[in-house]
Amino acid sequence: MVAASRGLDDPEAARQKLRERVIRETGARHCLLASSGRTIVWLLLEAMKRLAVDERNAVLLPAHTCASLPSAIVRAGLTPVPVPLDETTLDHREGALVEALERHRPLALLAVNLFGMPGRSPRWAALAREAGAFFVDDAAQTLGAACSGRPSGRWGDAGFYSLARGKNITAMGGGILVTDCDDLADAVEEEAKRLSPVSRRREVRTLVEAMAFWTLLRPHLYGITPHLPGVRLQVFEHNPNFPTRTMGGTQAALACRSWRHLTESNATRRHNGARLRAALAGLSGVQIPTPSGGEAVWLRLPLLFDDPAARDRAAAALIAAGLGASITYPQAWYHLPGCPSPPTTPPSTWDLAPRLLTLATHTYVTRGDMAKAVHLISHEVQP
Ligand SMILES: Cc1ncc(COP(=O)(O)O)c(C=O)c1O
Repeated sequence: MVAASRGLDDPEAARQKLRERVIRETGARHCLLASSGRTIVWLLLEAMKRLAVDERNAVLLPAHTCASLPSAIVRAGLTPVPVPLDETTLDHREGALVEALERHRPLALLAVNLFGMPGRSPRWAALAREAGAFFVDDAAQTLGAACSGRPSGRWGDAGFYSLARGKNITAMGGGILVTDCDDLADAVEEEAKRLSPVSRRREVRTLVEAMAFWTLLRPHLYGITPHLPGVRLQVFEHNPNFPTRTMGGTQAALACRSWRHLTESNATRRHNGARLRAALAGLSGVQIPTPSGGEAVWLRLPLLFDDPAARDRAAAALIAAGLGASITYPQAWYHLPGCPSPPTTPPSTWDLAPRLLTLATHTYVTRGDMAKAVHLISHEVQP
């Protein structure tokens, strides 16, 4: 917290230190910071519109992903178009993606490396390029993971990381863009002039939230977190009117500080993910997706149930026991009120929301918690 409060005194110095760290860690030529990952996506799409050689309005993204992506796409005046995920990897299905690239002629393809699992970004970047579309490597959930020898987030035209709660590094919010494309970086810098500055009041609030967050992270305290003043939960809603600000100095200082522990914290997540996978392997009625593009850092461990009713029972039991399970995400983003309908109606098989459950893998999850979680899941699937 002492380090974070330094970001209050000299926000620009804290941001510069973070930019230097990002460039050192990722090897990117350019790095730009903003208040959230969704702000980065919006800036990128605005910049891509300027650079596009022809008029394109669609942006392809997975049918199952966080709601902030379509919100950013709509804010940029573009149309979000869902593409289905492969159930065994939670990465794109190649045939369906190729078809969507041909049919929709998108401005951009967003590949999302879900739950810490790198996908086949090199392949998706090549397909996007062939189709004349930009490619964005969304590494909001894979900071510290690698894909084909490069840091996740470093494929295609640009990538980004999120510093929101529950990510590999949390700074109570924040987005980091990385790119090697000079013209894209220049266009994003130009767009970033529209971002609002961060007030000192907000900086102080970030510090207070960070203190509350780190005190309450332990799974058995999850239940009371939503009732505390000042602790904002991530809301799954379609909201293109999200704030678009520069990154606060406090956020930048928190991120720099937490980065020192990233390798260790990802190692714990890998270890916990592997332990849970081994314990749940072979359980009939539950599939555990396998990453298709590199070793996962298991931000959360996803489980895909055959039967939505079994998923509901397991979720209720785990949540009641305070074991840090969550329904991520509660529904397909294109079903959210206010979200524009996709150009063609997605088949119900694209909607993984009723069957997915994710388990916590962070440092505070104990071996006992994991054993209990496995026991409860096995009981609900095979009563
Ligand atoms: C896959 C993915 N992309 C983008 C985002 C957006 O990041 P942020 O919450 O920082 O706006 C998130 C986080 O919620 C995410 O999980």
